[in-house]
Amino acid sequence: MRTATSQKNGAAGKTTANAGGSGKKANPASATKSSKKEQQQKEEKEETPFEKLFMDMLKDMYWAEQHLVKALEKMSKAATTEQLQDAFDDHLYVTKKHASRLERVFGLLGAPVQGKKCAAMEGLVNEAEEMIKETEEGSMTRDAALIIAAQKVEHYEIASYGSLVQVALTLGHNEAARLLEKTLNEEEDTDRHLTMIAESDVNPLADQETEDEGAEEEEEMEEA
Ligand SMILES: [Fe+2]
Ligand SMILES: [Fe+2]
Repeated sequence: MRTATSQKNGAAGKTTANAGGSGKKANPASATKSSKKEQQQKEEKEETPFEKLFMDMLKDMYWAEQHLVKALEKMSKAATTEQLQDAFDDHLYVTKKHASRLERVFGLLGAPVQGKKCAAMEGLVNEAEEMIKETEEGSMTRDAALIIAAQKVEHYEIASYGSLVQVALTLGHNEAARLLEKTLNEEEDTDRHLTMIAESDVNPLADQETEDEGAEEEEEMEEA
């Protein structure tokens, strides 16, 4: 697979099929045979374990971003306040952008756009769904729980993109690193915004819900 080192090789990375040609008019059959062999050898050389790790991380995040699009739609619908709904809707738009930015990164590397199931994101989204089930609809505690779940997701993304940027730089994929860093900055902005919503509005109001009728009803149902 021509992947991580395509950028290093510039245009040659995209024309490996012809790269073995010396320019001399040789026997076409043997030329094809030898260029195929050279190409194979080159590809074997190109795919280092570190580059494979980088590609796997990219695939992981591509799957994660797409999975998150569906989750954010649910989280926005489940939110109590308009403020949090807006924050989720904004991040839904940004998350779609992250997925298409990853498609650009795959393109830069000359690799096919591909996702790979991310167990961590799947688990974090499952936890967010649990939070929705376990909290009262229309309550501020629901929003507090949703922010906690969303921030766990953001922190996972921040750790992942932070690592991706560093690995991309080490591999010499500077343009890919620049794009990945843009996403990293947007994840950090979202995390800060969610902290602000929690601290200024949601958590203090959720703290007043201890005598909430809804919560009492829920407790009664659990006891029955
Ligand atoms: Fe993202
Ligand atoms: Fe995010």
